[in-house]
Amino acid sequence: MNIAIILAGGIGARLSTDIPKQFLKIDGKTIIEHTLSVFEQHSQIDEIAIVVNAQYLSEMRETVQYRGFKKIKKIIEGGTQRQDSCWAAIQSYSNYPEANLIIHDAVRPLVSAEIISEVILKLEIYNAVTVAIPSTDTIYKVENSCIQQVPNRKNLMRAQTPQAFKQHIIEKAYLSAYFQNDFLCTDDCGIVAKYLPDEPIFVVAGNERNFKITHNTDLYILEHLLNDACKKQVSSSIF
Ligand code: CTP
Repeated sequence: MNIAIILAGGIGARLSTDIPKQFLKIDGKTIIEHTLSVFEQHSQIDEIAIVVNAQYLSEMRETVQYRGFKKIKKIIEGGTQRQDSCWAAIQSYSNYPEANLIIHDAVRPLVSAEIISEVILKLEIYNAVTVAIPSTDTIYKVENSCIQQVPNRKNLMRAQTPQAFKQHIIEKAYLSAYFQNDFLCTDDCGIVAKYLPDEPIFVVAGNERNFKITHNTDLYILEHLLNDACKKQVSSSIF
């Protein structure tokens, strides 16, 4: 069973808007609706669970009904940090240890069906799969405003989502990590890599379009990419 977990419990502090970024409307739909549509339309996704802040639970239920999404089976209350939201979703599938949990940021609306298919394919071989793209910039390791290290760019990749795991694997990694005092993690593969070091994590090639809406410029880019896609659809239906 392939279950998509759409994480939408954040507040989008880095984007100074009145509402969390996943609920901003672009091209007639909220960002989370764009994301949900990709998973809803993917033939290999059996079920979808959404994680939202308590304040948005009822609004989310109404949206799901209004848009007629059929695969959404759970709307789960999230937590303060991304890891808390993720843990809530992982635990809610404890009875499905062999299920594939395909965890995706609600604020990456341009994820492609091809990336999702490739992640699902690799889950036949690996218990943990992520998506990443090569780093085009050199990355510095910095402390106290001074460079500590300049790792070779050839070996560096930028993490994207989905990140996908057999349920029992990600639950086991979280159980080892979650109750440590200093536990803070923005990336689920980081938890598997640290607490289950013998578990290989396969990297599927991502795409620049699968970027995370974080700053105002990202909204501008998203609007333009969606407009472009819309124009292409209209012209192909005319000719
Ligand atoms: N997320 C979540 N629960 C949280 C925090 C984040 O489900 N407590 C989700 C976000 O809604 C988003 C994804 O995790 O879809 C990636 O997080 P990020 O881009 O960091 O979102 P925010 O935490 O909302 O942004 P910021 O860090 O600017 O506040």
